[in-house]
Amino acid sequence: MKQLTGNQVRQMFLDYFESKGHMIEPGASLVPINDPSLLWINAGVAALKKYFDGSEVPDSRRITNIQKCIRTNDIENVGITKRHQTFFEMMGNFSVGDYFKKEAIHFAFELLTSPEYFDIDKDLLYVTVYLDDEEAKKYWINEGLDEDHIVPLEGNFWEIGEGPCGPDSEIFYDRGPKYDPEKQGIKLLEKELENDRYIEIWNNVFMEFEKHSDGTITELPKKNVDTGMGVERTAAILEGVKDNYLSSIWKDVIELICEISGLSYEGNEKSMRIIADHIRTAVFVSADNAGIKP
Ligand code: SER
Repeated sequence: MKQLTGNQVRQMFLDYFESKGHMIEPGASLVPINDPSLLWINAGVAALKKYFDGSEVPDSRRITNIQKCIRTNDIENVGITKRHQTFFEMMGNFSVGDYFKKEAIHFAFELLTSPEYFDIDKDLLYVTVYLDDEEAKKYWINEGLDEDHIVPLEGNFWEIGEGPCGPDSEIFYDRGPKYDPEKQGIKLLEKELENDRYIEIWNNVFMEFEKHSDGTITELPKKNVDTGMGVERTAAILEGVKDNYLSSIWKDVIELICEISGLSYEGNEKSMRIIADHIRTAVFVSADNAGIKP
């Protein structure tokens, strides 16, 4: 596995997808534009809805971006776990009616496992797929993933507010049995239990449908791909740290909190993670200059 910092992770992601014909789209403001269905931009795709609903035509049907996101629904987990934040950056590759499941799975597998890129041991990767998505399962196996590393789940259907949605395939990194005190293994994934062993790093959504304001779902005229990979979680794994907040992305902030408070991180993790996370979110919201003050 490569040793990469957060900045190197971002760059490698963009370089990889640019080399596969993707146009780099600059990240958008955290405040949604012309989208009353969302309070904040909460995923890379949220800023690109205009391309998927056909209201704007992109210069390229293959797009990659790194998008600032806020997820208020994760707030209760912030501090308690080593990996939740209200603000995070999502790296994504998107196909607007261009490639679909097979190519998306190939790109994800290659970027994660090829010695040229992240070089993660494939035996440390697990994926979940939508219950009846035999196609996704087949493509993962064709790439070289063992069948017993593939977990079908009913809940693997991604939707957020109105807009494009569809079955998804989540990719997890196995941090090993020492993060699994009850030795539950793959049951942790099968039962979707909160755990520190299998870390979700990337979600691939195969967008086939559109959800409307009245709750109905219709088929999209063209099939699309929307993926999202967390910068902070990936950096923590590739830097070999056991806690997101100990990666290069947070180190300076945590050190400053220790200095100002005169306390050490150990023993005060929960409070310090909350302070670091909330300050970071407030700073990014203010920096967006959209008239919002923390
Ligand atoms: N939209 C999907 C997610 O947020 C993939 O980017 O998980």
